Amino acid sequence: MEKVKIGILGLGAISGIYLKNLSSVFRNVEILGIYDLIEEKAEKVQEEYHISKVYKNMEEMLDDPEIEIVLNLTRPLEHYHVTKSALLAGKHVYSEKPLATTFEEGKELVALAKQQNLLLGGAPDTFLGAGIQTCKKIIDSGFIGKPI
Ligand SMILES: NC(=O)c1ccc[n+]([C@@H]2O[C@H](COP(=O)([O-])OP(=O)(O)OC[C@H]3O[C@@H](n4cnc5c(N)ncnc54)[C@H](O)[C@@H]3O)[C@@H](O)[C@H]2O)c1
Repeated sequence: MEKVKIGILGLGAISGIYLKNLSSVFRNVEILGIYDLIEEKAEKVQEEYHISKVYKNMEEMLDDPEIEIVLNLTRPLEHYHVTKSALLAGKHVYSEKPLATTFEEGKELVALAKQQNLLLGGAPDTFLGAGIQTCKKIIDSGFIGKPI
């Protein structure tokens, strides 16, 4: 099976679970390359997960024709710029939440993805997770009556 090649931008606290799952649970993807502003983080991750490429900067990743999806795990203030740059470079993007820090910028990214015919996904945070969805279900169904 041909694997979809992913590039990860940002190797902070949340990256661990992505690295673990993308390299061991999901068999149809390959983490081809990584980049973080802090070089040592990238070197450590490369060694631990045997990743082929550590890029010198974000642009080098975005210029790599082999990268199909960019995983944006940078901090919220950087999301808009990173995601926009990746979309303009022709990459599909999956971004950690929030998509952007303003509604206007978020809408602009969605429109840009559509215009470029690319997929743009965002981590739903805990709201769509089992815990909160179960609470929603029991409230909506009337199971616990009217919460006051
Ligand atoms: N930490 C969590 O438990 C958690 C949970 C859910 C969601 N998130 C989301 O995940 C994102 C990242 O959170 P975190 O806790 O991992 O942050 P973090 O500060 O630990 O890591 C962010 C990393 O991104 C790097 N970075 C910043 N700009 C970059 C750029 N332009 N190119 C490459 N690397 C860049 C930083 O050097 C840093 O290593 C945030 O949007 C946050 O909302 C975090």
